[in-house]
Amino acid sequence: MPMEIEQLPSVGLSKVATSDTHGEDSPYFAGWKAYDEDPYDETSNSSGVIQMGLAENQVSFDLLEEYLEQHPEASSWGKGAPGFRENALFQDYHGLKSFRQAMASFMEQIRGGRAKFDPDRVVLTAGATAANELLTFILADPGDALLVPTPYYPGFDRDLRWRTGVKIVPIHCDSSNNFQITPQAMEAAYKEAEARKMKVRGVLITNPSNPLGATIQRSVLEEILDFVTRKNIHLVSDEIYSGSAFLSSEFVSIAEILEAREYKNSERVHIVYSLSKDLGLPGFRVGTIYSYNNKVVTTARRMSSFTLISSQTQHLLASMLSNKKFTENYIKTNRERLRKRYEMIIEGLESAGIECLKGNAGLFCWMNLSPLLEKPTREGELALWDSILHQVKLNISPGSSCHCSEPGWFRVCFANMSEQTLEVALKRIHNFMQAQQRERKRNM
Ligand SMILES: Cc1ncc(COP(=O)(O)O)c(C=O)c1O
Repeated sequence: MPMEIEQLPSVGLSKVATSDTHGEDSPYFAGWKAYDEDPYDETSNSSGVIQMGLAENQVSFDLLEEYLEQHPEASSWGKGAPGFRENALFQDYHGLKSFRQAMASFMEQIRGGRAKFDPDRVVLTAGATAANELLTFILADPGDALLVPTPYYPGFDRDLRWRTGVKIVPIHCDSSNNFQITPQAMEAAYKEAEARKMKVRGVLITNPSNPLGATIQRSVLEEILDFVTRKNIHLVSDEIYSGSAFLSSEFVSIAEILEAREYKNSERVHIVYSLSKDLGLPGFRVGTIYSYNNKVVTTARRMSSFTLISSQTQHLLASMLSNKKFTENYIKTNRERLRKRYEMIIEGLESAGIECLKGNAGLFCWMNLSPLLEKPTREGELALWDSILHQVKLNISPGSSCHCSEPGWFRVCFANMSEQTLEVALKRIHNFMQAQQRERKRNM
C-alpha cells in the first residue's frame, strides 16, 4: 500500500483515468488477489490457493537456462563484452536488425516453414498487450467497433477498449458446434454493431484460441477472411499461442492462407505475436505486429516509440533465436511437454467425471461444469466459481469473465506449476466432485 496521503476529491482526472473499461474488476482478476493472499506452497502452505488462472508456460525453463549457461555471451556485459556501448545507446524504434531477423525466422519455424515472414515487416512492441492496443489505435476511432469471437481473453477488454475508446462487439460462439466461429455468428455481430450505430472496423481472432485451447480450422479461417474482405474491414490474428499447438501441423496461420491466395487482399490482415507464451517470457515484454499493410507497418513503428523492447533483451534473444539447434529442440520439446500436461489434466478431470472441450493447443483446458450449476445463469456460475476458489482453493477463470454466453464453462491452466502441484489440484477437484455427488444423493 502507498503511504497514506489525504485525497481531496476536487482534483479531477481524465475520462480515460476514471472510466472502468479496463475490466480489472472482473472475477478473473479477483481470483488472482485471493491467490496472492494465500498462495499454495508444497511445504510451507499446502492448504493454500493453487493458481490455475494464469496462462503461464513454465514447463521448459530448464531448456532456456541450459542455453544461457552454455552461451554466457548472450547475456553478459562484462568488461570488453562486444557491443556494450552501442547497445547501451541503441534506441532506434526499428529494433536491432539481428533481432528482427531472428524473430521472423522463429515465426516461420513455429509454422513448420509453411509461411514466410519478412523481417522488414516485423514491428517490435512491449508484448502482445501493446501490439493489440497499438493496432486498435491504428485501425479504429473512438466509438468504432471490433468484432471479437467469444469466449475471449479477458485482457482484451482492457487492451482493445480502455485507452482507445473502441468498443468490442462479441461474435457469440457456443458449445453446439464446439465454439467454432461461423459466418452466421459474424454476420449477427456485424448487424448488432450497425444497429448500435457503430462503424465496424475489423474482426480480431485468437488462434489457437485462449480460452478454448484449440486451433481454428483452415476452412473457418477461409470463411473469416472471406467475411472481412466482403465487408471491407480488417482482420487481426493474435497468434501468441502458435508454438503451443501440440502438433505443428494442426496449427494453420492466417499467413499460410494469404500465401496460398498469393497475398490477394492481404493489406487488411495483421498478425500479433509475442514470446510470453511460447518461450514463457512474459516478463521480458517481447511482442510483434506483422502487417501486410505498408501504412500500418510505418504507423505501428512510429507508435512503438511508446512501448519499445529494451536493447539488452533484444540482444539476448537475437542470439538465442538465431541458434537453430536450440530453437528446433526447444519448439519440439516444449510442444511434447505441453501435450503431456494436457493429457494428464484431461485424464484427471475425466476420472472425476468432468468433461472438457477437445483441445490441441495452449496452456489450459476449457472445462464444462454446467451440470453442477444450481441455476444455469452467470450468477450460478459465479457462485460455483466462488466455492471452488474459497473451499477447494483453486483459482480458475469463470467463462463469464471471457464473455462466454453459456454459463458453466471454466478455463483451467496447467503449465504454470509443477506436475506434483497439478496432481494436488486434480485430487482436490476429485474430492470436490465426490462431495457434490454425495450432497446430490442426500437431497434426492
Ligand atoms: C490471447 C492473448 N493475447 C495477448 C496476451 C498478452 O500477452 P503479452 O504478455 O505478450 O502482453 C495474452 C496473455 O495472456 C493472451 O492470452
